[in-house]
Amino acid sequence: MTVDDVAVVLLAAGKGTRMKSEIPKVLHPLAGQPLVSHALAAAGALGAARCVVVVGPGMEHVARAVAPHATVVQERQQGTADAVLAARDALADFGGDSDDSTVLVLYADTPLIRAGTLSRMIAAREAGAAVAVLGFRPDDPAEYGRLLRDDKGGLEAIVEFRDADEAQRAVTLCNSGVMAVSAARLWGLLDRVGNDNAKGEYYLTDIVALARADGLACAIVEGDAAEMLGVNSRNDLAAAEAVWQQARRAAAMEDGATLLDPDSVWFSHDTRLGRDVVVGPSVFFGPGVTVADGAEIRAFCHLEGAEIGPGAIIGPFARLRPGAVIGKGARVGNFVEVKNAVLGEGAKANHLSYVGDATVGAGANIGAGTITCNYDGFLKHRTEIGKGAFIGSNTALVAPVNVGDGAIVGAGSTITKDVPDDAIAVARGLQKTRQGAAAGYRAGKIKEKKAKK
Ligand code: UD1
Ligand code: MG
Repeated sequence: MTVDDVAVVLLAAGKGTRMKSEIPKVLHPLAGQPLVSHALAAAGALGAARCVVVVGPGMEHVARAVAPHATVVQERQQGTADAVLAARDALADFGGDSDDSTVLVLYADTPLIRAGTLSRMIAAREAGAAVAVLGFRPDDPAEYGRLLRDDKGGLEAIVEFRDADEAQRAVTLCNSGVMAVSAARLWGLLDRVGNDNAKGEYYLTDIVALARADGLACAIVEGDAAEMLGVNSRNDLAAAEAVWQQARRAAAMEDGATLLDPDSVWFSHDTRLGRDVVVGPSVFFGPGVTVADGAEIRAFCHLEGAEIGPGAIIGPFARLRPGAVIGKGARVGNFVEVKNAVLGEGAKANHLSYVGDATVGAGANIGAGTITCNYDGFLKHRTEIGKGAFIGSNTALVAPVNVGDGAIVGAGSTITKDVPDDAIAVARGLQKTRQGAAAGYRAGKIKEKKAKK
């Protein structure tokens, strides 16, 4: 059997009532991407020939999240067996009567599953099982379904927690939900699943007992509990995030980044770090961040959609928003926000600034408190700052506006007109200085205060 003989059915139609949310459960993010995308990525890494995602009515946003994969709609959420049946027509041409093809059922709420584990499921099918079930032993078996074995250790049945008696609940081997089933057998087994149980639902798990009754072999593949975590509540979601982050931090360090306080660094699914990157404490990577070799992200930075060049220094306390491109050796210091802006090689914005919708040339220096005024209340406009330009502190650059190469802007300026290359522009009220006036003013005020007592 090759992966060409494997079709994945990913169940994502459940309402997720235990999340107590207006958003479908499978769209809640883990590591910055929807739960459903994680299981899909594992299926993708396995290289399965086909993948059908089962969604509920009105879940167009889930369909959009999984595009270009095919989706089918389960009209009523009547349980996991009914959900798999919703994919029947879409897979009508898959498998035929031969026992060589496999339908791999994955649950979208089990996001930590890995492709290697799925391969072991396919291997169990090749070894002769009509149904292979992925089991695990969690620290707390809680409400997972329990795998019941016969005297020879073979899988006999799966009993759901709500339907289990005391002895069955004492079983510690649990059902992850992942199942690899002979495509030739699956639909016939599903047709015979009933709903006479505690939830009144059609349980996919019932196909094990049905297969055994038909004399078919059912196997258990055991996997790592951390990988099988099913997300049913917000507490489960936080637990899954913690597991994911822990693994990602370890991988970042393995790959040559230094994390000064690993437990306080948060990554996204697509964060990319080069070699010798140093990340300080309490740094959050939102989606879409790339950090090149030798860059340093100091403490308390929030980054998303940003590209950080080699040797750049970001933070402490910096915020990079989507479209921030920070050049080689450039610096973005404390309380600086950069959005949709390119900082050229060696450019500096070290203190208290907003640089948005802008281009900053190589080696330019943006003084403390500089603001690019990019929004006029209706439209966004760009600010272009040339190579080696110097923007004095507390400057407002009212976009659209250009400051030329090598130009200097005096501190406290409000720049509304373009400044040519190598020019000096100062746009502020002229200073008036009156000799000795302070002493006179003070004397007058002291007199006034005495008169009031
Ligand atoms: C299920 C298993 C349980 C297992 C656990 C592992 C069944 C009957 N029980 O329980 O043995 O230990 O997962 O996490 O399968 N879904 C649909 N349509 C439906 C119902 C569910 O698409 O009508 C989808 C959900 O979106 C979810 C998945 O199927 O992705 C599992 O459903 P859920 O209700 O979370 O099942 P559990 O109670 O967790
Ligand atoms: Mg679940």
